[in-house]
Amino acid sequence: MDIAIITGSAGLVGGEAVEFFSKQSFKVVGIDNDMRSTFFGPEASTGWNNKRLKAKYPGYEHHNTDIRNLKGLEEIFSKYGADIKLIIHAAAPPSHDWAAKEPFTDFSINATGTLNMLETARKHCPGAVFIFMSTNKVYGDTPNSLPLVELESRYEVANSHPYAKHGIDESMSIDASLHSVFGASKVSADVLVQEYGRYFAMKTVCFRGGCLTGPTHSGAMLHGFLSYLMSCAISGKKYNLYGYKGKQVRDNIHSYDLVNAFYHFYKNPRRGEVYNMGGSRHSNCSVLEAIELCEDITGKSMNWSYTDKNRSGDHIWWISDVRKFQSHYPEWEYTRSLRDILEEIYNAMSSRLGKSHDA
Ligand SMILES: NC(=O)c1ccc[n+]([C@@H]2O[C@H](COP(=O)([O-])OP(=O)(O)OC[C@H]3O[C@@H](n4cnc5c(N)ncnc54)[C@H](O)[C@@H]3O)[C@@H](O)[C@H]2O)c1
Repeated sequence: MDIAIITGSAGLVGGEAVEFFSKQSFKVVGIDNDMRSTFFGPEASTGWNNKRLKAKYPGYEHHNTDIRNLKGLEEIFSKYGADIKLIIHAAAPPSHDWAAKEPFTDFSINATGTLNMLETARKHCPGAVFIFMSTNKVYGDTPNSLPLVELESRYEVANSHPYAKHGIDESMSIDASLHSVFGASKVSADVLVQEYGRYFAMKTVCFRGGCLTGPTHSGAMLHGFLSYLMSCAISGKKYNLYGYKGKQVRDNIHSYDLVNAFYHFYKNPRRGEVYNMGGSRHSNCSVLEAIELCEDITGKSMNWSYTDKNRSGDHIWWISDVRKFQSHYPEWEYTRSLRDILEEIYNAMSSRLGKSHDA
């Protein structure tokens, strides 16, 4: 049976991939040590999702292994060897605010952990497709130098600019910008993944994500924008907005659509590829617009406050141009709009809250 190894398997992207590939008749082997609860506290733990996946997919094999533990990875990979056809690497400390507090931890997981995964794959299953979940933070704050125009509820790029119609493509430089410690460790991993495609001819790819989200996101204040926003909208907890008058724009993609893109790549892989991947012009919003949508969906006013200081290196406007991926994989398409995504998050959260109240 074909094996898919998924790191960060209890997280948003990894968990969606466990579901998707379990349904595609792979044997799925997950690696996740719930470090998210160390990063963001117990309320952001992904342990609940791990339990849910184990209960739903009896064939699913989970390892509580830290990706920094090379010996632990060796044991898992040597068990299946060349039967491993697919690796999805999505384990990470995903927040740049948090990484600045512990640069060694951040680098050891994002950069060295990715090298551990690449080397173990090269040794045991060099023919496998290796999909790495990278980030638009590899471009640092270069997007902030675009000519921006302030509109009533959001910033936009000036109409005359080539990025205005479809968003930012992969030709943007990753050099000479403020990355944050997190962005820098992600650049290391991203370049390593490309190199294993070019130098070792492995089937590697980096998906540079905009905002990724979905109903299984364990949103926390420092990570998981729409999910955390909706949790505040439901509970009445105060949401703090940082800088840019709340007009900063993010594109948002549902984790299903992202993992479906992985599947298209898996079926027809390339080497050392890089794709910007997000909601694109199809699904994007400013924070102010997202608050309005949350209020509309919950039927309640949100409790929010504003701090004038923006987060260091935060993008003022990011919309991914996904046309490179679409041109390589024309059959892939979005299945959810921004409102669909928020409604799914709302429904999943309401039922989780209902269950915990019943318990
Ligand atoms: N969510 C987003 O908006 C977003 C945007 C761009 C890029 N990304 C990237 O996508 C990837 C997945 O993000 P996500 O949103 O699914 O994050 P997530 O926090 O939901 O999932 C990551 C999982 O990795 C696990 N993990 C962390 N360190 C580990 C370690 N050392 N060993 C084993 N497991 C470990 C965590 O416990 C967690 O369950 C990350 O690389 C992130 O940088 C995310």
